[in-house]
Amino acid sequence: MAESRPRFPFPRYPTGWFQVAWSSDVEPGQAIPVEAFGQALVLFRSASGELSLLHAHCPHMGAHLGHGGEVDGETLVCPFHAWKFDTSGECVEIPYADKVPKKAKVACWTIQEKNDVILAWHDLEGRPPSWEIPTLPEFEDDEWSETWHRKWRIKTHNQEMAENMVDVAHFKYLHGTKNLPEASVVREGPVLKMETQTVMETPAGEVTGDLSATAYGFGYSINRFSGLVETLLSGAVVPVDEEYCDVRFTFLVKKFGGHSITRGVGKAFIAEIQRQLEQDTPVWENKVYIDPPLLCSGDGPVGLFRQWCKQFYPEAEYAKTYEAFYGKPLPKAQTG
Ligand code: FES
Ligand SMILES: [Fe+2]
Repeated sequence: MAESRPRFPFPRYPTGWFQVAWSSDVEPGQAIPVEAFGQALVLFRSASGELSLLHAHCPHMGAHLGHGGEVDGETLVCPFHAWKFDTSGECVEIPYADKVPKKAKVACWTIQEKNDVILAWHDLEGRPPSWEIPTLPEFEDDEWSETWHRKWRIKTHNQEMAENMVDVAHFKYLHGTKNLPEASVVREGPVLKMETQTVMETPAGEVTGDLSATAYGFGYSINRFSGLVETLLSGAVVPVDEEYCDVRFTFLVKKFGGHSITRGVGKAFIAEIQRQLEQDTPVWENKVYIDPPLLCSGDGPVGLFRQWCKQFYPEAEYAKTYEAFYGKPLPKAQTG
């Protein structure tokens, strides 16, 4: 059934850092198409290793630079008439013309590469990055395994997925933890830290695990689990278009025993996280957003979380989508 109104009263594309690829998706000399923020983009790595994320459509006659475009040294060559763009998006050469028109350039995005991922900064108002994602030593540490990747496309909104973290009651009733966990949450600007303890049934009996999750806005989070083994998961969610988000999980485990034991533990960990995500998915894809929610004792700090969320929407955009959704202006007390 076609939806007659938007599902969420907030902007579709929040402010923040969002993963657009894994580092290994784009080797030197490669270009790949990227869909994110409702836009067609192209990501390429020059021969010397410099990464660039550009608007995908060539200003000449509109070819998509990520479909058939080839890297030549430090430039990306359009597949249609071979105009060459440098990593800043400037056209630097047209093989059959003496002069390059002034307007021959494509928009270039602010990106960074760390922790095995490539992140792009997005802001509806075009403001520059206002926070950083930390570099984690585990990704370079021999005591930790190689990384494993998993990706899903889910019909929901970043904020809905992020809310999962503080919604402790669903851990028991949807995911089957033995206890109803308590969560302590600390907000520091765009960062939200949550610590909790869960009791899980495993083949080795009941295991109490500590979960420490840190969200850097809606796009990127670091989740550390300890219990049987130490594991680390980066969870990244990027809005693709009006309907879908791409979810990318990057896993690594602290080595113990031999290589095959570590791999076995890694696989079991991934299977468990995958099981949980697949339980969440039908809820996310079909739920509506209730504001304010009808909370009771035992629910997690959902209100506090939603307060934190507002910073990721430029005020004017938030007011606009609120009014389109509810048919009335945003109450003054609810801004920013
Ligand atoms: S469309 Fe790109 S060079 Fe013509
Ligand atoms: Fe969940």
